[in-house]
Amino acid sequence: MVAAATATLSFASVPCRKHQLRRGANAFNAQQFSASSSHWQHSATLKWGLPRLRAAKRVIVARAGAGSYKVAILGAAGGIGEPLSLLIKMSPLVSALRLYDIANVNGVAADISHCNTPVEVAGFTGKEELAGSLAGADVVVIPAGVPRKPGMTLDDLFSVNAGIVKELVEAVADHAPGALIHIISNPVNSTVPVAAEVLKRKGAYDPRKLFGVTTLDVVRANAFVAATKGLPLADVDVPVVGGHAGTTILPLLSKARPKAAFTDAEVEELTARIQNAGTEVVEAKAGAGSETLSMAYAAARFLEASLRGLDGDADVYECAYVQSQVVPELPFFASRVKLGREGVEEVVGSELRGLSEYEARALEALKPQLKASIDKGIAYVQQQEEAALN
Ligand SMILES: NC(=O)c1ccc[n+]([C@@H]2O[C@H](COP(=O)([O-])OP(=O)(O)OC[C@H]3O[C@@H](n4cnc5c(N)ncnc54)[C@H](O)[C@@H]3O)[C@@H](O)[C@H]2O)c1
Repeated sequence: MVAAATATLSFASVPCRKHQLRRGANAFNAQQFSASSSHWQHSATLKWGLPRLRAAKRVIVARAGAGSYKVAILGAAGGIGEPLSLLIKMSPLVSALRLYDIANVNGVAADISHCNTPVEVAGFTGKEELAGSLAGADVVVIPAGVPRKPGMTLDDLFSVNAGIVKELVEAVADHAPGALIHIISNPVNSTVPVAAEVLKRKGAYDPRKLFGVTTLDVVRANAFVAATKGLPLADVDVPVVGGHAGTTILPLLSKARPKAAFTDAEVEELTARIQNAGTEVVEAKAGAGSETLSMAYAAARFLEASLRGLDGDADVYECAYVQSQVVPELPFFASRVKLGREGVEEVVGSELRGLSEYEARALEALKPQLKASIDKGIAYVQQQEEAALN
């Protein structure tokens, strides 16, 4: 039993899949996954309801000050930002957490700072404090922006959120140029290209370091498949590729582990549910916001995977929306990626081989929509640039 004063954390997490790679680029054998999952666990307090930990899991014990990474959250006082900040406060890999928002963030920072874990917490509010929140950050997570209300599509958020992402990523380029950037603000299919264009213009674009966070699609796919097939939740791993809106979200059920037989009806129902899961929450919340708690969980899982990559852990894999060439006509595409010391170490394109007929059709069908969303993000930055010149 650990004394509370040392704030020792037991942090069991394997959000990636360990698998053996054959020699050569993109050599990936999905058969060799060892199933596992990710859970946050505080040894002193969170003993209830935890799923059985599997032997494959790693337990990291961190003493006060053991973490070394600095994480900035921009939009930290929002529905996602608050619970995400709390989860990161529990990470043994993190030394400092900077919480930035245009409003109400100092209360969040004060509240979270009282949790007796070693992560140092500071709040920054107002544009004049943005630079300070970013200085020295290893990872910048951006959930700033407006969420959907019932009846809205993710694309409806573009006009507001593209501007917010542009402004914040400009600041990241100026004040934390080497940081990994995790974009949560929707529509991710367009806001990530916005961020890339901004970084290019600042001479600070490293495609290995820019991510659209699509982990929630994987988390949902795993949960829904486990429930449908009666599988132990911790064993299920479903890659989700494509984009992060409606039918651009493509769960690859044929590549799910453990291998399961799905009827055609199950494939259609599960795919549609995974694609529309956000709407399920938006409607249930009836105007009070969109998915925030599951998103915070997913973002924390992706952050932990990124930090483990930075830390030099081998075999850290997650799906994310990144620049890639796996589908030549789509410069950005969600794939499983290997995370390393510089961000994306490898994009695993081989999962697009041997798709079921249903998946192959869905992949073809999503291409025009995803391409249009990417082009919209690129065009936005060009237009803003031209407007600034006139
Ligand atoms: N990637 C995903 O899977 C996923 C899932 C759910 C929601 N989202 C998106 O995440 C975003 C945030 O959702 P939410 O529910 O937390 O919204 P929210 O309205 O609860 O919170 C957004 C926060 O951003 C802040 N903000 C606005 N403009 C800002 C700026 N210029 N600088 C800093 N902070 C700013 C607001 O003050 C607010 O605190 C939305 O765009 C939503 O669509 C993404």
